[in-house]
Amino acid sequence: MISQDTTVRDIAVERPGATAVFRRHKIDFCSDGGASLSQAAIQRGLSVSDLQAELDGLAADQGDLPADASGLITHILSRYHEVHMAELPEAVRLARRVEAVHRAKPDCPHGLADHLALILDDLQGHQHKEEAVLFPMMLQGGGAMIRFPIERMLAEHVDVGEQLDELGRLTTDFTPPAGACTTWRALYEMCRKVDEDLREHMHIENNILFPKFI
Ligand SMILES: [Fe+2]
Ligand SMILES: [Fe+2]
Repeated sequence: MISQDTTVRDIAVERPGATAVFRRHKIDFCSDGGASLSQAAIQRGLSVSDLQAELDGLAADQGDLPADASGLITHILSRYHEVHMAELPEAVRLARRVEAVHRAKPDCPHGLADHLALILDDLQGHQHKEEAVLFPMMLQGGGAMIRFPIERMLAEHVDVGEQLDELGRLTTDFTPPAGACTTWRALYEMCRKVDEDLREHMHIENNILFPKFI
């Protein structure tokens, strides 16, 4: 059974499926996971015991992340780095179309395409640093100097988290207006997936991969 004093970060790491529960309740588990479960519940106006029960009810076999750093890196590259680079450009294209076609409507997400382009641009640089510097250092066993690139990546993850918060605001929490066309709905669904994938990606790096080296 999960204790109310356990940190959100520890629950996210140790309880498969917990990240989906946290996401649903908008509890930050990747960049600011240091709060205890009860603090997080209070912050979000949730019942601590309900949240605890929801987490305790999760099946124990939903997560199957590789245990070693090399396997984790391979997983991160194929499941997240490559997927973000395939999906974000498409999201930018869809957003440009929606903003152009629906620009006169009051709920048009003005600025969404530019914001997605900014996320893509920053992420390209961030992932390049991991792929060219940090991950190769890890594959060679780490060493004392590795804490510098890790600290840099942690700081950049905080920035990505803020960009995702803004993405949620621009899309009214990924909820298209009533009567939105298919492109508009597909765009918001894609933004929701980008948000989920990126938060999960940063959680795996921050709370599972990086602690193996610091
Ligand atoms: Fe990454
Ligand atoms: Fe990262």
